[in-house]
Amino acid sequence: MSEDKDDIELDIDQKPVGRLVGKTKIASAKILIEDKRVERTTYLCIYGERKDDGTRDYYVMSIGKIWNDSQGLKAELNVVGERPPRPFEVGSKVFLAKNKQIIDLLGINNPQEKSVALGELLGYNFEVNLLVKNFGRVFVTGRSGSGKSYTMGVLCEELMDKGIPLVILDRHGEYGSLKIDANGGESEYIDAIIEFSDLSINKGADIDIEYLFSLDEKDIVAPNLCSIVNMRGISLEAQETLAGRLLKKLYKASTSRKIPPFYLLLDEAHLFAGKKSSETSDTVRLFSQEGRKFGANLVLGTQRPQLLDTTIRAQAGTWVVHHLTDVNDVKITISSAEDLTSAHKSDISGLDQGEGIISGEAVSGIPLFVKVRKRKTQHGGMGFNALDFLSEKTIEELKQRKSRILQNKSPEQLEAGKEMFEEVLGDKTRNELLDMVAELKQKVKKLETEVETWKGKYEQLKEGGALASSESAGAEEAISSDLPEDVKELQMDLKVWKEKYKALKKKVEAGGEQPAQEAGISKEAERKIENLKKYTQELEQKLNKLKTEKDEAIRIAEETIKEYKKLKR
Ligand SMILES: Nc1ncnc2c1ncn2[C@@H]1O[C@H](COP(=O)(O)OP(=O)(O)O)[C@@H](O)[C@H]1O
Ligand SMILES: [Mg+2]
Repeated sequence: MSEDKDDIELDIDQKPVGRLVGKTKIASAKILIEDKRVERTTYLCIYGERKDDGTRDYYVMSIGKIWNDSQGLKAELNVVGERPPRPFEVGSKVFLAKNKQIIDLLGINNPQEKSVALGELLGYNFEVNLLVKNFGRVFVTGRSGSGKSYTMGVLCEELMDKGIPLVILDRHGEYGSLKIDANGGESEYIDAIIEFSDLSINKGADIDIEYLFSLDEKDIVAPNLCSIVNMRGISLEAQETLAGRLLKKLYKASTSRKIPPFYLLLDEAHLFAGKKSSETSDTVRLFSQEGRKFGANLVLGTQRPQLLDTTIRAQAGTWVVHHLTDVNDVKITISSAEDLTSAHKSDISGLDQGEGIISGEAVSGIPLFVKVRKRKTQHGGMGFNALDFLSEKTIEELKQRKSRILQNKSPEQLEAGKEMFEEVLGDKTRNELLDMVAELKQKVKKLETEVETWKGKYEQLKEGGALASSESAGAEEAISSDLPEDVKELQMDLKVWKEKYKALKKKVEAGGEQPAQEAGISKEAERKIENLKKYTQELEQKLNKLKTEKDEAIRIAEETIKEYKKLKR
């Protein structure tokens, strides 16, 4: 890259912000910083020799690590974009990169109408405009209070600005605030939003959630429409089932192209797509693995990335990482997110509220530090009530508009949807039973392996105890090292006794006579064998007990499955 501006020549005469020290490479170098303006997020620049036409090549660099030592403030620089043909000269002057150089290089100056504007580049006063088509499945993480939901709200505004269909699964009733402007009036999105909820609990919602399944997929997903499913007041289990059902319905509709490409937002996703396999998590997995092909995209938010299903995590194309503290969460985030390295550990734990690192598909291989912009709409706390902000007149108008949606439906459609919803709510006992069955199944499995282990031990002991038949076995029997200590000891004893027995037998056969000693040994051997028999009996008893327990567990499981089948009917 080259720049032919005169101001660059001016710059080069002026004081640089530092000089390269130590070893240099073509992709990285070390700088001794001499200017207080340089921070972790500052972009720097090194110029090449002035060419015949008066221009100079330049190389933009980001800071990988920054530290203090006896010489002063130092940093590791990484070349972003084009690299020099040769390693930099030690002592090279380093300058602040110019805004234009940074914007061009990072590819963040995309047309507004095609971009998501999440905020400004941290430490700079220009916007990061990333192409919406590059976002793919988005993963927003950060500890509680770091700004995840706020950022997801900004994303909603950005997607709505582009008319992209949006479905929000809202656990806490936070997203109804998108209807209200930051200043407290009705927002520009109010007519685009339909909020489903239990109206007796969440008065600011529009349509009773029991009609959610009465509606066609096209009533929920459409251009310039944002459907919020406010599940506040519904038990977590029913929320999970509800989410699963809705996702399945929408996934099917999108695979058959019944609905246009859309984004589905799932905050606190670890609760719906945890490591434990369930109908819902399987659906989320399918959605995240296959959905993009059909334009069914996801934005997942979670404060515990480590709890989220690994496959789902691996499907994330773009990561927005806020402040994280838990070491494992940081580790997992770094290993899953494209272009984040262990050098970002301290960055992630050093982010302030509302600051994030964007990495992955949406940015071109360079993780960007962003200060997320202010919301255009309110940021709702749990149970946000839009009615507190709206005039009587607006509320009445909204009511009429929303009821028109239901008027299009036949009584049968309304009734069928209601039944489906009631089934979701009634699923509590069914889910409890399923959990019980799963738990029992696990118990049975554990018992089975335990029985197998004991069986193995028992067999080994039986073999070891076969004193009489040992004559034929000339080969040494190895003592298995993964047996419990007491069993090993017994086997060792047996081996010794076998040898003694063989030796004695030989002597007797050869006509040697040592009756007293032999008698003594036989007695000792008898005692040992008695002990062994006792031990074997003990083992057999244990085995039988385990078998009974296993049979009992299987019986309970079968009964529970029967109960569950009855209930299902
Ligand atoms: N980009 C931001 N600009 C201004 N304030 C923010 C920003 N992000 C978060 N906040 C503040 O932090 C609080 C917690 O953010 P929130 O998104 O609710 O956290 P969580 O990560 O738990 O979802 C918000 O109520 C808001 O006051
Ligand atoms: Mg939140």
